Amino acid sequence: MAELIGGLGTSHVPSIAMALDKGLRDSEEWKPFFDGYAPARQWMAEKRPDIAVVIFNDHGNSFFLDRLPTLALGVADRYRPADEGWGPRPVPVFEGAEDFSWHLADCMVEGHFDPLLCRDLDVDHGMQVPMELVFGRPEAWPVKVVPILVNTIQYPIPTPQRMWALGELLRRAIDSYPGNDRVVVLGTGGLSHQLQGARAGFINPEADREWIARIGSDPTRYRAMSREDYIEEFGSEGAELIMWLVMRGCMDAEVNTLHQHYFAPASMTGAGMVLLENAA
Ligand code: DHB
Ligand code: FE
Repeated sequence: MAELIGGLGTSHVPSIAMALDKGLRDSEEWKPFFDGYAPARQWMAEKRPDIAVVIFNDHGNSFFLDRLPTLALGVADRYRPADEGWGPRPVPVFEGAEDFSWHLADCMVEGHFDPLLCRDLDVDHGMQVPMELVFGRPEAWPVKVVPILVNTIQYPIPTPQRMWALGELLRRAIDSYPGNDRVVVLGTGGLSHQLQGARAGFINPEADREWIARIGSDPTRYRAMSREDYIEEFGSEGAELIMWLVMRGCMDAEVNTLHQHYFAPASMTGAGMVLLENAA
């Protein structure tokens, strides 16, 4: 059967992509941020997953407010990088783990999660940035991908509890998938930020640091919080963090936090990462 080898939570801020495109990786401003991801890159290179399940939200690039699924699942054999207004970025096309996607679609519908099934989907910075952070800019991505998209841009967004349950279902899908694929799960978004409204510019580094420290070892509180709590504590867009709960809910109760990193932001967004392995 397939094996869950680890879970990664990470921000997907678009300025990370811009920094890479402009060759700023080793600049004074960015080097500390990118260096914090080196252990995760190393881990991916050593563990060599076959499939990356990536949970992210589209940001008005492939879906818009006229048609917006609460939950969508890619079932394609390839996904193009979305053009977010400056032309598609020079990252490779993503190869889809089509068979696993259809298995997951079966499991989801059977388990009363009913996603929009996407055979044709462009994927935006929500997926591009996490992939680049842990796999760099290869000629071809070393893993096949399964995109799970969650609406976090138009209220009502799904509940944190629902996201955790989706993680548990994802785990059952991995454990029941024939073959011996090694699967890593990437939960993306956050950390604290608010791009709009009266609190535009709001970040909460203290809450971010606590999230990074506790999401592995002690996620109970985050699992119990309401959507309003997420918005209050992390900002309206910081509520993207509910997508990390899919990753965490997929893992065992006991995990080891192998690496963690938080970048005290000089920008609009708290940014960081955790890498988890099941303890058993
Ligand atoms: C920004 C956009 C995002 O999607 C995100 O997760 C964080 C920040 C931004 O535009 O700054
Ligand atoms: Fe985002």
